[in-house]
Amino acid sequence: MGVEAGPQKASAPAKCILFGEHAVVYGEPAVAVALEQRLHVQLRPSKTWSVGGSPLHPDRHPHIVALKTALLDDSIPPMSIHISSDIPRASGLGSSAALSAAVGRAFAALTQQQDFTNEALSTLAHQAEAQAQGGLASPLDTSTSTEGGIVVLSDKKEEFCTWLYTRTLAVPTGERVWEVHSLDLKRDDDIYLVLGNTGIHAPTSAQVALVASALEESPERMQEIKAMGTISRRGLDALKRGDYTAVGHAMSENHVLLRNLGVSSYELEDLIQAALPTSLGVKLTGAGGGGCMVALTRQPKETAEAIELAGGRTLVSRIGNAGAGTD
Ligand code: MEV
Repeated sequence: MGVEAGPQKASAPAKCILFGEHAVVYGEPAVAVALEQRLHVQLRPSKTWSVGGSPLHPDRHPHIVALKTALLDDSIPPMSIHISSDIPRASGLGSSAALSAAVGRAFAALTQQQDFTNEALSTLAHQAEAQAQGGLASPLDTSTSTEGGIVVLSDKKEEFCTWLYTRTLAVPTGERVWEVHSLDLKRDDDIYLVLGNTGIHAPTSAQVALVASALEESPERMQEIKAMGTISRRGLDALKRGDYTAVGHAMSENHVLLRNLGVSSYELEDLIQAALPTSLGVKLTGAGGGGCMVALTRQPKETAEAIELAGGRTLVSRIGNAGAGTD
């Protein structure tokens, strides 16, 4: 394995789920977009392996250790890994997926693995994410951060989308299969996402476990998961047509189902109420329980001000940005 001289840099974007979080873990369709906010990593040869000055450790850095084991052999000298990010952590914006995608890209570049495809990267990142989430994770966050743009996961190959690859995951009840696609959109310069962060950290693993135990207790609630899949498909159709009014409606409908499932919070509801009057649609995004809500809006300034008045911190992004790459 040859080693590239000098610091190796890579970055990957945050993601925002427009439709289908939680339901996607059970194989239902979902849509996510890459945001403007990014995580950057820099690798420099060093005496020992470290992350931000602390020794690399499997408990503290499970994603990085999994990628190192998969991608690097003993011929690679130790590296110090420096991470800088404008993606808030544990807030539903895919900071751990962005970390995996950026570190994976940097490791592959370090060893000059030119044939290291996005599919290989998102597969490794998904496996690392699934391990960190107690075995249950969809490839939505990791494939969006890897591919960028708009990513659609579905239980079947979707028309009008570009099919990329199939991802599978062994789960206690068998095997889950997702078809991963990208979607090209007609550019609309007047449409924005405003993210409102409650500042409350809610680990994805706990939120995913909460839904799993609700479904175990009441298997008939799988109907609600299926209803989310129906709304995702409606939202996807609206996106393909560039009908953002209908996209917004589907987002708000999706939120009602997420709230009923028990993954919203008072703080999220406050920010959502504040954003509604100036938005086309509003919902929580990601695992919920805290973290972020997202508003689809043509008035980003007004929407952001309303969210901030209600106590949220905001980020503004256009829809669809570049995926993981070397810097
Ligand atoms: C987290 O960003 C999205 C969830 O659907 C979990 C997953 O897809 O693995 C809640």
